[in-house]
Amino acid sequence: MQNYSHKKYRFLLLEAIHPSAKEILEGEAYQVELLNHSPKESEIISLAKNYDFIGIRSKTQITENILKSSQHLLGIGCFCIGTDQVDLLKANQLGIPVFNAPYSNTRSVAELVLAEIVCLSRQVCDRSAQAHLGQWIKSAAGSHEVRGKTLGIVGYGHIGSQVSVLAEAFGMRVLFYDVVKKLPLGNSKVCESIGELLKNSDFVTLHVPDTKQTKEMMTTREFAQMKKGAFLINASRGSVVKVSDLVKAIKEHQVGGAAIDVFPAEPSSNNEKFVSELQGLENVILTPHIGGSTEEAQAAIGAEVAASLLSFARLGNTRGAVNFPNVDLPVLHADSHRLLNVHQNVPGVLSDITKIVSDLGANIQAQYLSTDSKIGFLVMDMEKGSADQVSKQVAGLRTSIQTRVLY
Ligand code: NAI
Repeated sequence: MQNYSHKKYRFLLLEAIHPSAKEILEGEAYQVELLNHSPKESEIISLAKNYDFIGIRSKTQITENILKSSQHLLGIGCFCIGTDQVDLLKANQLGIPVFNAPYSNTRSVAELVLAEIVCLSRQVCDRSAQAHLGQWIKSAAGSHEVRGKTLGIVGYGHIGSQVSVLAEAFGMRVLFYDVVKKLPLGNSKVCESIGELLKNSDFVTLHVPDTKQTKEMMTTREFAQMKKGAFLINASRGSVVKVSDLVKAIKEHQVGGAAIDVFPAEPSSNNEKFVSELQGLENVILTPHIGGSTEEAQAAIGAEVAASLLSFARLGNTRGAVNFPNVDLPVLHADSHRLLNVHQNVPGVLSDITKIVSDLGANIQAQYLSTDSKIGFLVMDMEKGSADQVSKQVAGLRTSIQTRVLY
């Protein structure tokens, strides 16, 4: 059992996580160490001994070895979008929730998309490249305002809906298509099929996740359904567009131009060469997966993940944890203590815990339970006097993985 009543949690933040995270955690009087590098496995194992929480970005691998040697860890924060760098299953089995920041860069992506709509419509990137080479190509032919044009948004989630709001502010008409029923924002209109959207849009922008259903959802067949000369924007995932078909559609002028930020194969670092069939095509904007890469997004990621870790440390909240049963808990009443118990999800656990509570005559004021296939997360608010005793016995059950009390 871990009892943190008089202990200040200690946080180790690696890979130059934005200082916004340190500020938030230190503001709550927690001890925070910020390191700039991404340590190797053995270094993390020895560092982790002194901390309750670890924060990483995308380079640091949190392996099964690290997790097994650091079972005292209470939580892990991925200060980025992806969480593949953590052995999520092992962390789950050890009762360690992993948090990330999936939506802190939403606005950054949406702004880039808006900029690209204008740039495509005016061939800005081609004109700029020519001007750099000393060519003065001043012409209105083929250049258009975006006001009054129709934008079709495929995937009306966090980014798609932000794009919708910004595009309407620009005077565009907005259509969207999503597999889930979504509330249309502003004057946007829902399409019943992707075909209906493609047929009616001057610009098509993709904001879907990488799934089996979205793999190569844009091929020659879909490009043929678009208005002749309409534009395509993809800042979602490279797998969503069949690039060879897009190249063909652009060469045949079926698609008037494209802005592509994500590719089926992307260089793993800035030192690796980037190669794409789209290079050299007219009115094609290529960007190196920078849709979400802004300083504001980094600061927002720092703040969002720090807030999740804090809420878990203080209240036991696991909302948004990617590998863990989610519970969203109210603040702890002044007369209560809160017991947090992670247990194996096997038959009989709850009756064992209930028996302990009733044998000790503890009065439970509120109880919350969330489970997944492997573990259960039980939260019990109880009268101050009884939490320690209950916690000691619950922690002793062979099915218990992590037990702590919040005071
Ligand atoms: P989200 O999960 O909030 O929204 C995705 C939407 O797509 C959901 O509404 C979902 O119902 C819908 N959808 C799923 N399958 C669909 C289908 N077959 N057809 C139509 N709609 C479908 O995700 P969010 O945050 O808006 O991100 C969207 C994409 O943007 C993701 O692929 C994400 O990885 C990518 N992204 C790219 C960044 C960049 O730097 N370029 C940065 C951040 C996210």
